[in-house]
Amino acid sequence: MTPEQACHQPPSLCSLLRRLPLLILPFSLLLNLLLLFPPPVTRNTPPGIEPDRLQLLTWTHDAAAEAEAVAAVNCSGHGRAFLDGLIASDGRPSCECNTCYRGRDCSLLLPDCAADADSGDPLFLEPYWQQHAALSAVVVSGWHRMSYRTNGDNFISLQLETHLRLLHEAVGNAVTDGKFIVFGSGSTQLFNALIRSLSPDNDSSSSSLSNVVASAPYYPMYKAQTALLDGREFEWEGLTSDWANASSSPSPSTNFIEFVTSPNNPDGTLKRPVLPGSTVIHDHAYYWPHYSAIPAPSEEDIMVFTDSKLSGHASSRFGWAVIKDEGVYRKLNRYLKLNSMGVSRDTQLRVLKLVKVIIAKVKKQDDIFDFGYTTLSERWSKLNKILSSSTRFSLQKLPPQYCSYFNKIRDPSPAFGWVKCEREEDRDCAAVLLKAGIISRTGIIFEAGSRYTRLSLIKTEDDMDLLLQRFESLVSQEEPAVLEAIKLI
Ligand SMILES: Cc1ncc(COP(=O)(O)O)c(C=O)c1O
Repeated sequence: MTPEQACHQPPSLCSLLRRLPLLILPFSLLLNLLLLFPPPVTRNTPPGIEPDRLQLLTWTHDAAAEAEAVAAVNCSGHGRAFLDGLIASDGRPSCECNTCYRGRDCSLLLPDCAADADSGDPLFLEPYWQQHAALSAVVVSGWHRMSYRTNGDNFISLQLETHLRLLHEAVGNAVTDGKFIVFGSGSTQLFNALIRSLSPDNDSSSSSLSNVVASAPYYPMYKAQTALLDGREFEWEGLTSDWANASSSPSPSTNFIEFVTSPNNPDGTLKRPVLPGSTVIHDHAYYWPHYSAIPAPSEEDIMVFTDSKLSGHASSRFGWAVIKDEGVYRKLNRYLKLNSMGVSRDTQLRVLKLVKVIIAKVKKQDDIFDFGYTTLSERWSKLNKILSSSTRFSLQKLPPQYCSYFNKIRDPSPAFGWVKCEREEDRDCAAVLLKAGIISRTGIIFEAGSRYTRLSLIKTEDDMDLLLQRFESLVSQEEPAVLEAIKLI
């Protein structure tokens, strides 16, 4: 209705409609002003950077746009695209799909695809970093630290060393005061570096060598790597149980280097050394609140940690050892210099950023440990419920335990399920599960026998969902009574 038409209306409405353009004018002016001069977007300016600086970004625009374009590729929640991934025929980055998903956008679930619970790939933390993309992104310039040298001795970033100490203090899982820190390309590199550094020097005056041992079930890398790199100074000598019994008790001059994985891979238990007088390498890969209660800070002389299980960035290949003895520290540095000249400086930069984010969120909203613990304890509880109604399969027993980090008694949240096949005829447990569409890791390689097999609980949500489905249907085939119990879950 135009104002002219409105004047056939009652007089009050007529005058109101005649003044309408005048009333609208201020609003329209305000709207135009807002469009022309939008208010500054409030965003979290990184500490130490003036907000104005953000308007002046020059050379990072293209890289940032490229990174965001890749992150925006739709992979249906069952995959993701990467900056260095393959390019599809339309020139766009293509999706890399989760196991069992296919198609351009990873939306096709392959029928009868086996649930893959084999490797310890820590992708359960991927959603955490996707949710905190802005906090954790790093821009690497073309001239970032091109030199062999860094600002710290022995090819390490002093900032990263400092932040690792702060992290241990904030989490309360290890005491680093008065101890040295060395970096490795994953903790895997540090294992052999430690064995060599702890063994007698390879000179003519020394005849004894080190016997490297572990208690079953143990992380198989210790044996495989020690056997591969066997030198004149050390040798893989198998299980602690073989040496602990009286008949094979070693002479006092025998050197033992004992790997103690706590919490243990595969069964999640907190472990102690077995052989009296052994030199112990405490592998604390899983001594973080997402996987385990932290009863008290570890104060051991040799402790090894890895970012692979802390932040989940196994790809970055970053581990560190906390060392009490200066002589061992010096030998380690010599090994790392001759072996790889230190850890990639790009990796150190990325890990520094991740560790800073983790520290900033400790015991606050969006704490990675809270996220990790919630995810893994739920996964464990679901698997436990299904297996508790089975007489054919059993799962390791882990009690609730007091955790100083959460300051409460907490349920278990182990990285792995350690399954035993209870039926006499199911001697090869991994083969039994494979028949039911579940890929697991046989207990043979953990020196625990084929009746046991390991399930990874730290992979993607898709892997976990499929694993639970397959187990549910396997257990439901047992007996009618079991079927009824499962329906109640
Ligand atoms: C007990 C244990 N230690 C060390 C590692 C390897 O760590 P990294 O990736 O740092 O070499 C693993 C990996 O699964 C592990 O389970």
